[in-house]
Amino acid sequence: MPLIVRPPSFIRKDSLIFEASHAALRLSYSRETYGGGPVPVASVQGFHAVRDHTEALADPLSPEDQVVQSMTDCSPTKWHRGHTTWFFEEFVLQKWAAPYERYHPRFQYLFNSYYEAIGPRQPRPQRGMITRPSVAEVAGYRAGVDAAMSALLTRSDDPDLLATVELGLNHEQQHQELLLMDIKHLLSQNPLHPTYQAASGQNQVGTPKPMAWVAHPGGVAEIGNDGQGFAYDNEGPRHRVFLAPFAMADRLVTAGEWLDFIADGGYQRADLWLSDGWAHINEEQWQAPLYWEQVDGVWHVFTLNGLVPVDPAAPVVHVSYYEADAFARWSGARLPTEAEWEVTAAAAGLPDAPYGLHPQPLASDIPAGGVAQLFGEVWQWTSSPYTPYPGFRTAPGAVGEYNGKFMVDQQVLRGSASITSEGHARLTYRNFFTTKSRWAYSGVRLASDG
Ligand SMILES: [Fe+2]
Repeated sequence: MPLIVRPPSFIRKDSLIFEASHAALRLSYSRETYGGGPVPVASVQGFHAVRDHTEALADPLSPEDQVVQSMTDCSPTKWHRGHTTWFFEEFVLQKWAAPYERYHPRFQYLFNSYYEAIGPRQPRPQRGMITRPSVAEVAGYRAGVDAAMSALLTRSDDPDLLATVELGLNHEQQHQELLLMDIKHLLSQNPLHPTYQAASGQNQVGTPKPMAWVAHPGGVAEIGNDGQGFAYDNEGPRHRVFLAPFAMADRLVTAGEWLDFIADGGYQRADLWLSDGWAHINEEQWQAPLYWEQVDGVWHVFTLNGLVPVDPAAPVVHVSYYEADAFARWSGARLPTEAEWEVTAAAAGLPDAPYGLHPQPLASDIPAGGVAQLFGEVWQWTSSPYTPYPGFRTAPGAVGEYNGKFMVDQQVLRGSASITSEGHARLTYRNFFTTKSRWAYSGVRLASDG
C-alpha cells in the first residue's frame, strides 16, 4: 500500500527567502563571458577547433563501439561523424565552393538526417546497418571535407558563407552532445558496464541546503533572441510575455530527493501522473530514472565513468517529462514555464558552467536570492510545449527544416547539461524532446505559483 506522507520540507512556501526586483528586466549578455571553451567561430582556426573536438570525443571508442545503434532515437558515433561532415558539404561547399565534387556520390543518402528538400535518405532506425564505409573511411571523409573547408574559408569572407559555417559549427556541437548521450545508451546495454572514460579524481562532495525559493512579482517581460549574436531560428523573435507572480527553486532537484519520491511510492501512485505518463510507466515498467539499477539493495547509476552508487547530493538526471511532472506534483509544486525560466536566468546572469560526463553536486552555498545550477548540469524540463514564438518564420530552403518542422508534441527544456559543449549554451536556447524521452541529460527544477 503506498505511503501517504507530507511533501518533503524542501518545497514548503515558508522557505521563501528572497523577493527579487525585476523592474524593466532585459536580457543582456555576451557569449564570450560564458564558459572557457571554444565559442564556435567561423574562421579556419575556429572551424578546426570544433571539428577536432568531435574527433576527440570519438577517440576513446573502438570501431565496434562506433557502429552499433542501440535504439531508434540514438545514432552510431560513426554516423554522427559522417552526418556533421555532410552538413558542410551540403550547405556550404555545394554553394560556395562550386563546382564542388562530393567526396562520395552516395554519402548524401547515408548521412542526410531529415531534410526532405534534399531527398531520400537512409531510414533513421537503420543507421546502425551502415557497416560500410568503415570508421577509417569516415575519418577520411572528414579530413577531405575539412581540407576543402579550410581552402574555402581562406579565400572567402562572404557574410552569408560565414553565417552558414557558424550554423554548421553549432550543429556539430549539438551532435557532440548527442554523441555522448547515444554512446552512453549503447554502453549501458552491456552487462559488463563498460566505461567511456575512467573517472579522473573525486566527484565533488556536497550536501545541498533545503531548497529555497526566489519570488518574482510577475508582469510584462521580454524573452527570446533579439538578433544579437548567434542563435537558432527557434529562439526568436524576441517578444513580450505576461507572467503571473511565481517563485523559482534556487537549485535543481537532487537524486536524494528522487530517492524520497521512490520511497514514497511515487511510481505507484496514479494520482501523481498525467494519464499518458501513467500508461507509459506501467507499460515500460519504469520504477526509477533511466540508468538506475539496484545492486545488493543499493541504487546505482550507470554513467560514462561506469556504474557508481547514486550520489544523493547530485542533480537527478535522465528523467522524462512525465516523471518530472509527477515529481513536481508530489512535491506540491510545478514545473516552470520557459518564460519563467528565462526571466529568472536573465536576472541570475550567466556563470561559467562546468563541463563533465555527469552532473555534480553543488559545491557551495547559494547566496540569498541567488539561483544556482541554471547551466552546465542538466537540461531542465519546462511545462511549455515546443511551439513557434509569435512572428516565427522558417527560413527558405532545406535549412528551414532545421527546427521549425518539429514544433509539435514536444516539450521545451532550458539551460544546458554537463556534457553540452563549451560555448554552446545560451540564455535563450530552446532544447526540446518528446514527453517519453529520457536519454538526454534531462532533470528537474521546480517552480510555484507566487
Ligand atoms: Fe544534425
